[in-house]
Amino acid sequence: MTFVVAIDGPAAAGKGTLSKAVAAHFGFAHLDTGLLYRAVAAKVLAGADPVQAARTLDAVDLEDGTLRTPRVAQTASEVAVIPDVRAALVTFQRQFAMRADGAVLDGRDIGTVICPQADVKLFVTASPECRAQRRFKELTDKGMDITYDTVLADVKERDERDRTRAAAPLVPADDAVLIDTSDLTIDAAVAAAIAVIDRAR
Ligand code: DC
Repeated sequence: MTFVVAIDGPAAAGKGTLSKAVAAHFGFAHLDTGLLYRAVAAKVLAGADPVQAARTLDAVDLEDGTLRTPRVAQTASEVAVIPDVRAALVTFQRQFAMRADGAVLDGRDIGTVICPQADVKLFVTASPECRAQRRFKELTDKGMDITYDTVLADVKERDERDRTRAAAPLVPADDAVLIDTSDLTIDAAVAAAIAVIDRAR
């Protein structure tokens, strides 16, 4: 029996942390679908054609060490606008969702396009300032030389592009449960997500 948890939301809302914790709690597999777009972006930055890069994406491409940089994130948001890039990534995501041990997929369009029949849909959000603060800390902890204002501008630009694109824009599914993590600790956000999933099981 498959069980699918779709977790969508804007950049740096805490989807990754939440998804990993939920997957570990229930013993589900986890796919960070943003990594697929980031891997395509890394290839594009190295000179590849976006659609070709998406069509030939390989699991090892997801291990590229540069995928977490702001430059790759911005390019990921740009290539994610291209319908043929998105189309090339659908099968891999849907197959992942069919895993018998249960699956958590996080991204922007999981509950709306990739897995509209998901058993649980969460839409995780937080204020842009709060998300930028968290991302700023994450990047500076890694030793990156960057200002908070740059990170905030970056988050807002990506939000705007992700929300307004024609193909699979970032919008909560009608039946998604909203979790605003602005004033929640990680533990409280995880507990809220687990409670929603427990009810659905
Ligand atoms: O989740 P992330 O920040 O790693 O995602 C990087 C970009 O990839 C994001 O700005 C938009 C795109 N993306 C998408 O369009 N659809 C997804 N399911 C996941 C990510």
